[in-house]
Amino acid sequence: MTRVSSSDAIGRGATLALNCTMCHGAQGMSASDAPNLAGQYPEVVIKQLLDYRGGKRSSTVMAALSRSLTDRDISDLAAYYAYLPKARTAPTTYDESLPALVRVGAPLRNIAPCVSCHGGIDQKLGAPWIEGMPKDYLVQQLRAFRSGERRNDAEAQMRVVARAMTDREIEDVAAFYANKASPGEVRQ
Ligand code: HEC
Ligand code: HEC
Repeated sequence: MTRVSSSDAIGRGATLALNCTMCHGAQGMSASDAPNLAGQYPEVVIKQLLDYRGGKRSSTVMAALSRSLTDRDISDLAAYYAYLPKARTAPTTYDESLPALVRVGAPLRNIAPCVSCHGGIDQKLGAPWIEGMPKDYLVQQLRAFRSGERRNDAEAQMRVVARAMTDREIEDVAAFYANKASPGEVRQ
């Protein structure tokens, strides 16, 4: 077996990623409503690509693209995206000024705080870095978890959270995360 150095993996990943720039941006920062991949945790990129390839997460475009990727391609792409400059705000840590759902959730409705899994300190393995993602993408994903159309989350962690959320709450948390750079200026 030949040992693959991490720079080989990143270089190979960069070449493969030329097929992805049209939607995910030249530096992993999307100009459309596709998710940003720059700096994403490698285990997230790997899991999501395996889920598309295996049909656990549905998306016409990503299903077709992921089918042609080998396991090695997937891990090299993940290494490349993790290595790219992190052109967005770091994962949120607990702070009194955060919106209630993000900070403390809604215990009576079984909604755990977003920061308890997506946080900079409390990052649950597999929970994506969502700060600075396109707002429409975040809204779509939360609605898909709520309706059960997206069901690739282990132990229904996100379905449980989203099930109890109102349309307004989905809009508000999506706007908060999309505009994370300046929480004081959340666009509605
Ligand atoms: C034609 C546009 C397009 C191309 C090309 C494309 N993607 Fe995607 N990608 C999308 C869209 C749209 C989504 C969100 C789909 C959904 O709703 O699940 C997505 C989702 C993803 C996700 C999930 C991210 C997350 O935060 O959950 C990963 C990882 C990903 N793409 C990687 C890739 C890689 C690697 C390539 C190149 C091999 C690629 N994509 C090419 C449009 C594209
Ligand atoms: C118990 C842990 C947990 C909590 C609490 C939680 N999440 Fe998640 N979230 C996850 C995990 C794990 C995933 C990845 C699921 C998968 O494997 O596809 C995820 C995925 C997501 C995604 C999809 C992102 C993408 O790029 O694919 C969004 C959006 C999201 N969460 C938003 C939120 C928001 C907003 C809150 C608070 C209202 C929240 N989450 C609370 C664990 C959690």
